[in-house]
Amino acid sequence: MTEKPYLDFYAKQGARLVSRDVEDTDKFFRARESLYIALGIAPGFLRGKTVIEFGPGTGHNALYTDWLGPSRFVLVDGGPDILAASKERLVTNGSHLVEREFICSLFDDYNSMELFDFVIAEGCIPNQTNPVDLFKKMQRFVKPGGLMLFTTVSSVSWLSEMLRRLAKNRIISLEMSEEEQVNLMVSKFEDHFDTLKNMARTPEEWILDNLFQPHAEGKFFTIPDALNSLSNEFIVSGTIPTYFQDWTWYKDVAHSNIERNAKLVEAYFSNMLNFVDRRLINPTHSQELGKQVEEIASDVWSQVCRIEKGEVDLWDEIFESLTQLSLLISSEALQTSKSIDEAVKWIRGGLQDKRLLYFPSWWGRGQQHVCICRRQV
Ligand SMILES: C[S@@+](CC[C@H](N)C(=O)[O-])C[C@H]1O[C@@H](n2cnc3c(N)ncnc32)[C@H](O)[C@@H]1O
Repeated sequence: MTEKPYLDFYAKQGARLVSRDVEDTDKFFRARESLYIALGIAPGFLRGKTVIEFGPGTGHNALYTDWLGPSRFVLVDGGPDILAASKERLVTNGSHLVEREFICSLFDDYNSMELFDFVIAEGCIPNQTNPVDLFKKMQRFVKPGGLMLFTTVSSVSWLSEMLRRLAKNRIISLEMSEEEQVNLMVSKFEDHFDTLKNMARTPEEWILDNLFQPHAEGKFFTIPDALNSLSNEFIVSGTIPTYFQDWTWYKDVAHSNIERNAKLVEAYFSNMLNFVDRRLINPTHSQELGKQVEEIASDVWSQVCRIEKGEVDLWDEIFESLTQLSLLISSEALQTSKSIDEAVKWIRGGLQDKRLLYFPSWWGRGQQHVCICRRQV
């Protein structure tokens, strides 16, 4: 039987992997508020409105949405324990005024005629078997004039994680227990985590979720995947990070939403080097370079997946692709290029060298948040 993305792994690991450390509620709510505002969702907008959240996990983010006072809040998740944890959190800490419904269901099986002012799908569309179809299905629940918030991930924004995954594949042996494997990786990546501020999970949880969770059947879901699939009914209201500069006078409206969304896709490709490395803010470059970078990173991901399926003689091919990528970006993003070279050398040598200068602090832009608005009509 094929593995159900996220659900089978989380059922084995328990709800802890989708849990977050939010002890400082004030700081957490401020982060959520600034995310919402940047995406075009004024906090007061949700008061008295209806909301549906797909894949709420253990409900940490949902607590902020709940606090904004919607009249009705539907939460759909296929993990029974995860959903139970989310219910417990919202019933104990949420507002008494919100009518909530918790639905344990696969996204594919959820059906309803109800439309919502706000649809949320955070961290649950990428890695599905058919992300674009799922995205289109979820859009259907947005009321005319309403909003949908979702997240995207690309082979480029996830390249640094991909290399850490490759490092894991290089040294773990199946004779080791899972705990021994995780502990080994924690020791290898200790200095990497030291460079990450505001981690909301332990290194063990991060490693299990990102390096051990099976992804080989899943797909990335990129900003172009999402925006190119949108009909003229939807327009982007914001993205985080905000990679798009728009100096258009407000009266000079685009002929169609499709035309406007297409500009965001073009800007995505000419900002590719900013998605690959969060340490840098590079000037824009040619779209052609962005497309080439994404193509090589996607090839690397297919090679990683094949290694994880047991093809052992792919290592030279994968190191060659990475070296080609490093060369391609060396004149525009030298620090990233050096990080790739160093990672390749380290992984090739079995993770022995301890004095790494570039790789430990290299993290990509991971997931991006996007918000779209449905035309009022
Ligand atoms: C990675 S977690 C994201 C949690 C939270 N939204 C966040 O951003 O931190 C994905 C969530 O989606 C749920 N999920 C994933 N695929 C699903 C599917 N096909 N049907 C129903 N639930 C699913 C998982 O149980 C989990 O709670």
